Amino acid sequence: MKILLAGGAGYIGSHTAVALLDAGYDVVVVDNYCNSSPEAVKRVEELTGKNVVVYAADVKDKAAMQQIFAENKIDCVIHFAGLKAVGESVQKPIAYYRNNIDTTLTLLEVMAESGCHNIVFSSSATVYGEKNAAPYMETMERGTCSNPYGWTKSMMEQILQDATVADKDLSVVLLRYFNPIGAHESGMIGEDPQGIPNNLMPYIAQVAVGRRDKLTIFGNDYPTPDGTCRRDYIHVMDLADGHVKAVDFAVKNKGTEIFNLGTGTPYSVLDIVNAFEKSNNIKVNYEFGPRRAGDLPEFWANSDKAHEILGWVAKHDLEDMCRDTWNWQSKNPQGYKK
Ligand code: NAD
Ligand code: UFG
Repeated sequence: MKILLAGGAGYIGSHTAVALLDAGYDVVVVDNYCNSSPEAVKRVEELTGKNVVVYAADVKDKAAMQQIFAENKIDCVIHFAGLKAVGESVQKPIAYYRNNIDTTLTLLEVMAESGCHNIVFSSSATVYGEKNAAPYMETMERGTCSNPYGWTKSMMEQILQDATVADKDLSVVLLRYFNPIGAHESGMIGEDPQGIPNNLMPYIAQVAVGRRDKLTIFGNDYPTPDGTCRRDYIHVMDLADGHVKAVDFAVKNKGTEIFNLGTGTPYSVLDIVNAFEKSNNIKVNYEFGPRRAGDLPEFWANSDKAHEILGWVAKHDLEDMCRDTWNWQSKNPQGYKK
């Protein structure tokens, strides 16, 4: 089976490519490298000993997408291609709506023209909004998002669901990721954010490797056990495995199905810093700063549905996540840059 990874050179896409190739699937990647490097796909090939067909193209470019579908018989698409920086989305909402929504519409149109009926979509816990109480369940209504990035995910979920109502052949799997961290255990691929990292774990890793002075912990006065925010961190290889199982599910079913992918265990920011220090025997300088706008005190997943229907369960613990992050960062201090 041939799987098209839209945005497949990125952090989650490259790890999913490894999992799919290891499971015997053929992989085609399309990426415009707006937040990634072609080197990531080369490393995927090196790691797996398998070839990946790669297209440097914008997923919004319909003619380019038509050519990719004409040259490859695609059985299922996984749509990772999105802009994802929450703060930037507040500054550049139109760019976020344009890129994220347009990529989704273009994929759906070209899939329909080409007779491809299956799509797995990178959604986010952010669609649960501010009012739902953790643990989040798929049966909860989507909520009010606190930023344009979150709204793009919510809107794209709606677009994909509407498409399955109209097209009875279409199969959509919405994967709501919680907080992916970690790296492939080889240390050959990992998260390589451009500029100053927005997310906690890459920031910690860059402090540990000496690229940044110290971590600022955004707020220590939240109503949580230690005052810092709690999240459901999930190893990126567990997430990748969830995609393999979602593809299997998508090709055998019709309509829309939603799955949370998280571990169900919340950890605070301080838990993560302490676990990183302990697992890797390295000091991480930090200070407390003000709260970051839009952060919720805590949320985590109920992933029973993914367990029951997909047979998926997270296998890696926090120590694995911290060790594998550091293995990648210490072997690649500047990321994919030589
Ligand atoms: P990433 O930025 O590393 O990967 C996204 C990839 O898509 C990049 O390689 C980028 O170059 C590419 N891309 C973006 N727009 C494109 C376009 N128009 N045409 C072609 N390529 C394009 O991000 P990631 O962490 O791997 O996230 C993958 C998906 O998962 C995103 O949709 C993101 O919103 C979603 N998600 C991520 C997280 C997280 O914490 N990492 C959490 C929830 C959901
Ligand atoms: N944090 C810090 N200092 C930093 C960075 C983060 O203290 O330098 C804190 C945040 O305040 C938060 C926690 O670490 O309490 C996690 O923050 P991240 O930015 O790593 O993750 P978020 O939970 O804010 O958001 C992530 C993704 C979103 C996604 C969401 C839910 O970035 O795309 O998970 O899936 F929507």
